[in-house]
Amino acid sequence: MTDVIPLKAPLGARIEGLDRSRAGDAQTAALLARALAEHLLVVIPGEPMAPEETRAFSRAFGEPQRQLLRYKRSGAVPDVSIMVSTLMADGTTDKTAIRAEDWHTDDSYFAVPAKATLLHSIEIPSRGGATWFCNMHSVFEALPEATRKRIDGMRAIHGYDTPRARNRPSARTPEEIAETPDVEHPLVRTHPETGRKSLYLNPNRLDRIVGLERAESDALLDELAEEARKPQHHHGHVWNRGDIVVWDNRATMHRVVIDYPEGEPRIMHRVLIEGDRPY
Ligand SMILES: [Fe+2]
Repeated sequence: MTDVIPLKAPLGARIEGLDRSRAGDAQTAALLARALAEHLLVVIPGEPMAPEETRAFSRAFGEPQRQLLRYKRSGAVPDVSIMVSTLMADGTTDKTAIRAEDWHTDDSYFAVPAKATLLHSIEIPSRGGATWFCNMHSVFEALPEATRKRIDGMRAIHGYDTPRARNRPSARTPEEIAETPDVEHPLVRTHPETGRKSLYLNPNRLDRIVGLERAESDALLDELAEEARKPQHHHGHVWNRGDIVVWDNRATMHRVVIDYPEGEPRIMHRVLIEGDRPY
């Protein structure tokens, strides 16, 4: 018997009693997809799995899609990325981990961003390294009515990098650069499964609002980000080894806290789930 237990938090549910090898059964897959659309974040405890098993499990949520950066793709199962965020003695870690320290939604630099991301913990440090999530439905609903009216219908340019981001991203190969021209997305998007509106923000990738002068665009984006940074919209997931966590990129942002001990391996396997064009 599989149970969906809502967290006492602004988003998220814990899935209990699930046989992960049966996640692809029609009834179970439907239950998981519904839980994700409703709670925006699902946590499925269990043991570490091989990349083949993780890919098979991810299909309960849709079609796996390969991530942009080739160096992260797992050799044998390229739909699964190996995300190493171990903190080195000199204070460095992989650039994508450093960048993930600020709030973002995955993949918004693509015209069709991944609808969901699955992260599976293989090795975790003895303490720290929580991943925090932000409910972008509640952020939108918390904005003053005048702001909601003003921004509904606005469009924004997302790029692989923007001077607005706090850190620079990983370098791309010429092939990867060719695949990532700037794209335009609505600033307010509608969840295709629930019909709820959310603020589609990404401080790491969102460069400017179409039709506004830079200063005005910066001021509005800062004002919107300020609401999203309020703790009332947030929930932090403290990892256990073997956890599977899936979040809905259409209505959430997330960030990692790099506060864990140096040298202790932090390795996650990641699968992006194909989405559709935001509207
Ligand atoms: Fe991310």
